Amino acid sequence: MKTVVCPGSFDPITNGHLDIIKRAAKLFDNVIVLVANNISKTGNFTIEERCEMINTVIAQETNLTNVKVESFDGLLVDYIKNNNVSAVVKGLRAVSDFEYEFQMALTNRHLYNDFETLFFTPANENMYLSSSIVRQIGSFGGDISDFVPHCILDTINKKFVNHN
Ligand code: PNS
Repeated sequence: MKTVVCPGSFDPITNGHLDIIKRAAKLFDNVIVLVANNISKTGNFTIEERCEMINTVIAQETNLTNVKVESFDGLLVDYIKNNNVSAVVKGLRAVSDFEYEFQMALTNRHLYNDFETLFFTPANENMYLSSSIVRQIGSFGGDISDFVPHCILDTINKKFVNHN
């Protein structure tokens, strides 16, 4: 049984994240969407809100029965070691992600080398999508409906309304 993790901030989950999760779920036995802490980002949504949104999205999809959501506050490699994880799956968009993702992959491997980091290419329409773009558009009252799963659109919009 091969278990992989899709780690990220998911602040909030976007169609781009869902695209990568679906691709991972087709290839591996178990997929853990791991809401982890990126110390260089201050979150809009709480960790609980992010997990709840991801759970809502996964529950809507028929082919994601092998996917579960967890949160973790610590080093990704410690989670990997303790949970029998074979690989980390991340999406790699256009050119912007390359340096940052390689830095993380190589640093993680330096810390612990009994796993692989795999980069998946998202669909064209998700290539330039990011949570920060969604937050930026949403916080100015723009239409984010093409960028996030429909079942969490209201939850996200409500958050922005309450913040403004
Ligand atoms: O969606 P993001 O913000 O690009 O995801 C980054 C994340 C959360 C996967 C990364 O910051 C992470 O792995 N955080 C856990 C702490 C850790 O292991 N940091 C060292 C990474 S080299």
